[in-house]
Amino acid sequence: MSSLKRVLEYTKKYKTRLILSMIFASLFGLMAAAPTYLLRHTVDEVFIKSYSHLIIPFIIGFVLLFILKAVFMYLTSYFMYWVGNRVINDIRTDLFAKIAHFPISFFQEKTSGQLMSHFLNDIQMIQNTISLGVKDGVRSLFEGAFLIGVALFMNWQLALIMAIVGPIIVITTQRLGKARKKASLGIQQEMGKISNMLQESFTGIREIKAFNGENIEVGRFKGLLTQCFRSIMRNVKIEAFAPALIEPIGITGGGVVFYFAAQQVLTGIITAGALISFFGAVILAYQPIKKIVSFYSEVQYGIAAADRIFEIIDRVYPATKNRSLELIEFKAEINFKDVAFAYNSNSFVFKNANLQIKHGECVGIIGASGSGKSTMCDMLLGFVMPTQGNVLIDGMDITQISLSSLRNKIGYVGQRTFLFNDTIYNNVAYAQSNVTHEEVVNACKLAHAEEFIKDLPQGYQTIVGENGTLLSGGQKQRITIARALLKSPEILIFDEATSALDQESEKIIQQAIFELKGQKTLIIVSHRPAMLKNVDKIFSINSGQVRAIQTSSFRYEEGLV
Ligand SMILES: Nc1ncnc2c1ncn2[C@@H]1O[C@H](COP(=O)(O)OP(=O)(O)O)[C@@H](O)[C@H]1O
Ligand SMILES: [Mg+2]
Repeated sequence: MSSLKRVLEYTKKYKTRLILSMIFASLFGLMAAAPTYLLRHTVDEVFIKSYSHLIIPFIIGFVLLFILKAVFMYLTSYFMYWVGNRVINDIRTDLFAKIAHFPISFFQEKTSGQLMSHFLNDIQMIQNTISLGVKDGVRSLFEGAFLIGVALFMNWQLALIMAIVGPIIVITTQRLGKARKKASLGIQQEMGKISNMLQESFTGIREIKAFNGENIEVGRFKGLLTQCFRSIMRNVKIEAFAPALIEPIGITGGGVVFYFAAQQVLTGIITAGALISFFGAVILAYQPIKKIVSFYSEVQYGIAAADRIFEIIDRVYPATKNRSLELIEFKAEINFKDVAFAYNSNSFVFKNANLQIKHGECVGIIGASGSGKSTMCDMLLGFVMPTQGNVLIDGMDITQISLSSLRNKIGYVGQRTFLFNDTIYNNVAYAQSNVTHEEVVNACKLAHAEEFIKDLPQGYQTIVGENGTLLSGGQKQRITIARALLKSPEILIFDEATSALDQESEKIIQQAIFELKGQKTLIIVSHRPAMLKNVDKIFSINSGQVRAIQTSSFRYEEGLV
């Protein structure tokens, strides 16, 4: 189904208002065309026949028509914009709802700048098209149709001559519309690059400054702007060319018609009033027709944007399908059976991984940076799927377990903390609808976060700033641990949870983690052997090989055996 059709599908829900607006639009068109019809009688009766008593009634008639036209114009716009903006919101919601459920790989493939551009630029473009569609599309369509009707009624022979010029204009603009669509795509891509670049430099501003890279970034920005300018100019050329081509065609056509019209009046075939009325209608019809035509090429932008949006909405990821099993409770064990994983088809991160994690165990995973530890955690969280072999949880293949039930059972704390710009309380209680204040406080106590939260002037109501900038690294990490604990998951994964912290904070967090031993199944990932004291089992990942290490022979202070 074409994108245009799909956008129209969205209006179905608001059928009543849409039909109302169409009725008002047609009444508007009628009121816009009626004065030209009245003009004929005004000229023939008041001026030619000199019926002076008709002057005032005609004036009242004209005024009334214009008032009614204004009223119907208002009503058309009101209902059309109402429907249009509802549709826009529905598309936005659908897009976000789809994207939010996409697997992590989608977010690796697209930069956040590109994603934002779909929500801001693409949807804005659809919105512009809809707004324009109201003003220039629907309203002008009815206005133009009724005016042409009047022209036909006054003198169909003349109108037919006009009809020859019309299609030439329409075909020319269609061609131009296609070229504009292509050029618009170019601008869109350049804008995407610019927004990515800006986002990157604002996030990395500290690094940029530390490397004296400000001017390099300014240069990069200028370069991108130049490219964008070229794209825009390509578009401008087409846009500026359109009227230059179309208006002369229109005027030439008008001249030919006038020649025949003058002949007809002189030979008495039509009255002067009818001629004035005819030309009035034709001249007035020019604007709406021009608007419809320019709207047609404007629609191309909207369609190009809608194509991009629907391309995303229609994506189906195999990872999210066919997950029919539910992990109600984690009872027995997690099993990796000959598991291999590769991000790219030929380079495996690890191979032949066989490991077993029993319910209630505390397991360490160790390996150098880049050895695949986080990848293994991502596999348990269902972010990536095994390339070969199977991961079984209580005997169920992880690829068959519904993601929501899987993630319900797993608490995850990574090295990079993420906090919403909200209160501490809401950050801890994120996505937990039925928790009590007690439970939040308890989770914070377990995570050793309570001790610093109660010293803050606003306590749990403290706003943490964008990604928690108002807190220290250790404090942020303790809040994310509290958040993971509040979910009361059965399995807790700590992926280098303390690597970014100072020794003092590391100690507190280590203590918080090991206090959970015996209550939860713990998976502690680290490249630092000292973190793994007190674990029951250790798995080491080294050059793609995963093997179990005896905890008794593991030298915690020195490193890998
Ligand atoms: N999304 C990705 N696409 C491609 N390669 C990746 C991706 N994420 C990680 N890698 C690569 O996979 C390997 C393992 O990464 P990772 O699991 O993060 O290691 P660790 O957590 O042990 O430091 C690394 O070589 C890394 O470069
Ligand atoms: Mg890692």
